[in-house]
Amino acid sequence: MRVLVTGHQGYLGTVMVPVLRARGHEVVGLDTGWFADCVLGPAPQDPPRLAVDLRDVTIGQLTGFDAVVHLAALSNDPLGALVPEITHEINHHASVRLARLAKEAGTRRFLYASTCSVYGAAGEELVDENAPLRPLTPYAESKVRVEDDLEAMADADFAPVFLRNATAFGFSPRLRADIVLNNLVGHAVLDGVVKVLSDGTPWRPLVHAADIAEAFAVCLDAPVDAIHSRAYNIGTEANNRTVAEIAQAVAESVPGSEVLITGESGADPRSYRVDFGAARRELGFEARWTIAEGAAQLYAEYTAGGLTAADFSERFVRLARLRQLGESGVVDATLRRVRVGA
Ligand SMILES: NC(=O)c1ccc[n+]([C@@H]2O[C@H](COP(=O)([O-])OP(=O)(O)OC[C@H]3O[C@@H](n4cnc5c(N)ncnc54)[C@H](O)[C@@H]3O)[C@@H](O)[C@H]2O)c1
Repeated sequence: MRVLVTGHQGYLGTVMVPVLRARGHEVVGLDTGWFADCVLGPAPQDPPRLAVDLRDVTIGQLTGFDAVVHLAALSNDPLGALVPEITHEINHHASVRLARLAKEAGTRRFLYASTCSVYGAAGEELVDENAPLRPLTPYAESKVRVEDDLEAMADADFAPVFLRNATAFGFSPRLRADIVLNNLVGHAVLDGVVKVLSDGTPWRPLVHAADIAEAFAVCLDAPVDAIHSRAYNIGTEANNRTVAEIAQAVAESVPGSEVLITGESGADPRSYRVDFGAARRELGFEARWTIAEGAAQLYAEYTAGGLTAADFSERFVRLARLRQLGESGVVDATLRRVRVGA
């Protein structure tokens, strides 16, 4: 298939592109390149790129694709809270516009990167795809709205699917240090302390970036009926863990490190345990990476790549990096690129 991957120069996209290419897909990327040079270790081999802001993409640029994998977004809660109206503009409005143009251009499959955080505060019970959606942040709210709007566009010629990914972990050449496991391993390596600011009790389902890539590859190959207008939780019950358990796994993977639960940020209402059975039964998808394996991989890559404290707290943190791009005049207040280079 000829596949457009938006956000291909992000954390997940950089892991996903080689997986799709290895399956024989011809990949074109679309990315504004905010984090293109935020690389640890050898530079990745990027596919051809549409260097355009998602908000400005044209139907002409979307012609000739069998499928769109839509990853581009302001990708976490702190970013969403920084500029809620821009989160809405990019994550919701521009995503729906992209889907509408792709449909008009004749694209059949539209794979959307949603999130398990659409379930919000779900308590102790396992939530499946039919559970009520209770988004707690502008970021999660934007994901719910896109799912609703894309579902309304589905018809015989257009099959959207919503992959509700658990929180990702694991190494990507375009690293993110602002997701929980990657962050805790970094602190363990740099400071010897696995510091948890909450009380450690919230449930956080996790999934490796490589497993997410595999899930998208499976959805490209699946019969259209299996994905048409469907939501799938992407992850594994084995990685439904509390933050305290995740911290313990990190301490066991990084020699000489120890857990410190400070509780200074109080209780975190974002807590949910997720049922991943539907993707297993209906797509044959099984997430494979354990948290311990991910922690060991990150430890090895951080050490080999010479991770520094400065890069860990700035370059690989999406919010800090975007602030830098704003302060240095690379992007304006609406996060549009005003000049090339960073
Ligand atoms: N990483 C996770 O834990 C996780 C979990 C669930 C869902 N997701 C979703 O998966 C997707 C990818 O996440 P990620 O971790 O790779 O994020 P990321 O921030 O690393 O990558 C996002 C990419 O999108 C690009 N982008 C953002 N706005 C754009 C715009 N207006 N025009 C063009 N390009 C733009 C950025 O330059 C970046 O390369 C996001 O939609 C995110 O919400 C991520």
